[in-house]
Amino acid sequence: MPHLISQRFPLKRIFQPYHLGAISTISSNKFSKYFIKIKKDVEEFIEYNLGEENFMKIVNIKENSELLSEYIELCSYEWGSKKSTLEMQNYVEKKKKSILNDEKVISILGLVDNDNLIGFISLFKYDGEDRKDLTPWYATMYVKKEYRKRGYSKLLNDAILKEAIKLGYKKVYLKTELDNYYERFGAKYAGKINEFEKLYYFELAKE
Ligand SMILES: CC(C)(COP(=O)(O)OP(=O)(O)OC[C@H]1O[C@@H](n2cnc3c(N)ncnc32)[C@H](O)[C@@H]1OP(=O)(O)O)[C@@H](O)C(=O)NCCC(=O)NCCS
Repeated sequence: MPHLISQRFPLKRIFQPYHLGAISTISSNKFSKYFIKIKKDVEEFIEYNLGEENFMKIVNIKENSELLSEYIELCSYEWGSKKSTLEMQNYVEKKKKSILNDEKVISILGLVDNDNLIGFISLFKYDGEDRKDLTPWYATMYVKKEYRKRGYSKLLNDAILKEAIKLGYKKVYLKTELDNYYERFGAKYAGKINEFEKLYYFELAKE
């Protein structure tokens, strides 16, 4: 298949708004067929792009030193405390060693466009101090600001769930402050986990 769609084509534009404008005058039956076709096109697009070399793909960040440094920095900016440049350099070096030696970090997957990191997601044995009786944890879902609102977080979600299935897990847990976000990927709400965050889980296979 030739490269008909540019690698920076925003997925959202396949659904909106011009397709919706174009179907406003057709019947609901035709609407369903049309919508199913668009959905299929998008699924093929995602599959196709992730399958191509030198195109968007999912990579193992633990095996790429530069991506691992970027992952640590971005996680620190998003969820950690403020650091000076020197503090950050030292932190990245220390954290890299601990990630590579600590069995807490099961997997870190990145979505890359050639060598450029778009976003990442991880699978941890435990996530903070809450509910250490549960394992593993779906964590650090992150898409860089300039790539947001294009549907890329779904690719990361799908990749980490696939990874968890491959590793033989039947359920994965996550905690979040976000409302009505992980539900769209099939996560089930399981109550509050602390003052600010809620607990969710994904059922990966029938127990
Ligand atoms: C949350 C985040 C990963 C979303 O990435 P994204 O690539 O922009 O999301 P997508 O384009 O794939 O959005 C998928 C859907 O989720 C919705 N969504 C996106 N961010 C959301 C949020 N913060 N809260 C609720 N829904 C959200 C979108 O509206 C979209 O819905 P739609 O398809 O009905 O329009 C991204 O904003 C991010 O990295 N934020 C900072 C880190 C973070 O908060 N991570 C989550 C930690 S629990």
